[in-house]
Amino acid sequence: MDIVIAKTKSECDNIAAGIIRQQIADRPKSVLGLATGDTPSGLYARLIELYEKGLVDFKDVETFNLDEYRGLSKDHPQSYSYYMHKNLFSKINVRDENIHLPNGQALDAKQECMDYENKIKDAGGIDLQLLGIGRNGHIGFNEPNNSFASMTCLTDLTEDTIEANSIYFDSCAEVPRTAFSMGIKTIMQARKIILLAYGKGKAQAIADSLTGPITPLVPGSVLQLHPFITVLLDEDAASLL
Ligand code: GLP
Repeated sequence: MDIVIAKTKSECDNIAAGIIRQQIADRPKSVLGLATGDTPSGLYARLIELYEKGLVDFKDVETFNLDEYRGLSKDHPQSYSYYMHKNLFSKINVRDENIHLPNGQALDAKQECMDYENKIKDAGGIDLQLLGIGRNGHIGFNEPNNSFASMTCLTDLTEDTIEANSIYFDSCAEVPRTAFSMGIKTIMQARKIILLAYGKGKAQAIADSLTGPITPLVPGSVLQLHPFITVLLDEDAASLL
């Protein structure tokens, strides 16, 4: 595990953008696993800058997002599909048919999960997975106690996550209670992982995940077992290490 602690979030964003740029230069048909939330937004802005300067080409890149709220349409401003189009996809040359997120409105949840997992397999697996982390150590929407063997599934959000994510909604009541998420096993099958965490609010989750026991109670702790992971932290997120 490579752990980089930088003074600022923007230094970490630059390093992450450099890793992704190199990944695509080495393998133009890279399969990227992408994340949403506040954490990766600066990195996406850097990637757009690199694209505009002609330093990275997403023409043959395929993307799979980690998760999507159940029940929200693609156009709902809080759906992860909307977030990704607004913050990245509409500003780079990734092809529409190469963009994948779980369909939050799928009627048959089990089928949707199986289909998503199969699409990842058919694409050849994820080359590079980007991750943020929840305050309670969740990765994707794999909440504490989810099995390390889980594949893409419909999962219940904890009260803590609902409250943390309510800042993006008008009220807590509007936050969906369930979401589709790649499983822990799906995430761990990625060939490489970048984990980003910024701010004091993530310090405990980072300390527990990187230096605590490896346990489903702290989903992020499974990352200690991944052979190729880079962790990029600002000083606040690293403050309890
Ligand atoms: C959400 C997402 C995660 C994300 C986490 C942290 O619940 N499902 O993929 O990593 O929250 O979000 P933020 O970056 O906004 O703190």
